[in-house]
Amino acid sequence: MGTSNMKTTFISIMLLSGLMLSSCSELQEEKVPTESTVSVHGKGFADASSANFHAAYVRNNKYDLTLCQSCHGNDFSGGTTGQSCNTCHNKPNGPENCTTCHGSVNAAPPNDLVGNSATTVRGVGAHQKHLLGGTLGAAVPCATCHVVPASLASAGHLDATPNAEVRFDTTSATYRSGASYAAANATCSNTYCHGNFNGGNGNVTMAWAGTGGSTSTACGTCHGDVTKATLKEKAFPVTGHTAASITSDCSTCHSRTVNASLAIIDPSKHMNGQVD
Ligand code: HEC
Ligand code: HEC
Ligand code: HEC
Ligand code: HEC
Ligand code: HEC
Ligand code: HEC
Repeated sequence: MGTSNMKTTFISIMLLSGLMLSSCSELQEEKVPTESTVSVHGKGFADASSANFHAAYVRNNKYDLTLCQSCHGNDFSGGTTGQSCNTCHNKPNGPENCTTCHGSVNAAPPNDLVGNSATTVRGVGAHQKHLLGGTLGAAVPCATCHVVPASLASAGHLDATPNAEVRFDTTSATYRSGASYAAANATCSNTYCHGNFNGGNGNVTMAWAGTGGSTSTACGTCHGDVTKATLKEKAFPVTGHTAASITSDCSTCHSRTVNASLAIIDPSKHMNGQVD
């Protein structure tokens, strides 16, 4: 090998390693944009795949966002740091938007506070079944089951007790005394909608995060007898009606709620607190 050849090889190695070095540091910069020489938060605070991600930090500090406002500004637009939260949290009120910590389609889970989406987890449960309404009944608002905070800082919202508080709205048309929620096992009992009404099946206990699904919404579960053969017999209240009234169409008297084949034609008239 001649000297000129050795020289070119040497130069190409130098060039190559130089290229490798520069591309390596470029990659690192792209991966951890928050890392600077004097980083306040450490690596990965803005990186969802990092163990140091800020969501976990916020959770571990009781969701107290005043901790962030001192530097990032009261409106989170950057404050003395110049780093706005609102570029990523771009809904109204930035990080204080109701869906930042829970919910997605609306403020209710899923996702729950720790990111669960399965309805068998109590933080998620039957929220969307109630909130979106359906073929059986109208949507049930949050306030029927919770005190709804006007803002993040509202009294009773972020309190010392670990789980969400459930309290039934006593002013609702569908409230009946005796209705209760047992946080110990996440069950509701004695609610109006699930049987606690004149002619209803009485105290039916519902598992909030159960696997019941369609069986708990079948005709006969709240009034009547689910084991009977026909839809009519299933839905027919066990008390109150004369035995003869089962021979006529339910829709002759309940025409605003059901049709002749017992389909609910107006969910807003069913389970609304009065017999239509
Ligand atoms: C003592 C002042 C201070 C406090 C308090 C503070 N930050 Fe920061 N934050 C900074 C500074 C300065 C930066 C700029 C980058 C750096 O130095 O890490 C920053 C950057 C960030 C970034 C990265 C922004 C980006 O686009 O890369 C996130 C995310 C963040 N902070 C979240 C929070 C959260 C959440 C809280 C409250 C729990 C908080 N910070 C509290 C000073 C603070
Ligand atoms: C680079 C984008 C980015 C910036 C900047 C940013 N966040 Fe976040 N933040 C996220 C992402 C992504 C999540 C996770 C959302 C999810 O899991 O659905 C999150 C989650 C959160 C949560 C929810 C915590 C939880 O466990 O539910 C809070 C509160 C929050 N951020 C506050 C802040 C605050 C305050 C700032 C500014 C100081 C900030 N964020 C800046 C991207 C960002
Ligand atoms: C039919 C009653 C009902 C309605 C309506 C309802 N919730 Fe809930 N909610 C519950 C129950 C039950 C729990 C579980 C409480 C527990 O863990 O013991 C819960 C839990 C929660 C939690 C805590 C989640 C977690 O991670 O632990 C949040 C947040 C919540 N609800 C918000 C809402 C919001 C917002 C709305 C309206 C958009 C709403 N809920 C409507 C009954 C309801
Ligand atoms: C920074 C995170 C965060 C934001 C933003 C947030 N919440 Fe919550 N929310 C929580 C936590 C944590 C709980 C559980 C509270 C507890 O332990 O009692 C909760 C619980 C709830 C509950 C269940 C009832 C209760 O108080 O326990 C409702 C309803 C609720 N939030 C509605 C809202 C609404 C409406 C908004 C917007 C105005 C909102 N949340 C914004 C963290 C947040
Ligand atoms: C002859 C008219 C008539 C017919 C037919 C009739 N109902 Fe009723 N139904 C009523 C009246 C009146 C009430 C209200 C009773 C009260 O206020 O106590 C009622 C109430 C109800 C209730 C509420 C619970 C209760 O007992 O108050 C249900 C559920 C119900 N009917 C279902 C049915 C079904 C299912 C059928 C068909 C198999 C049917 N009804 C047929 C007149 C009728
Ligand atoms: C989750 C509980 C529940 C289920 C499941 C249910 N109902 Fe009802 N139903 C009620 C309640 C509560 C009432 C009491 C009256 C009211 O508030 O509208 C009622 C009343 C009625 C009435 C009387 C008219 C009215 O609306 O007041 C008819 C008819 C009726 N239901 C038919 C049915 C049929 C048919 C099915 C099956 C497709 C069914 N129900 C399933 C809770 C239920």
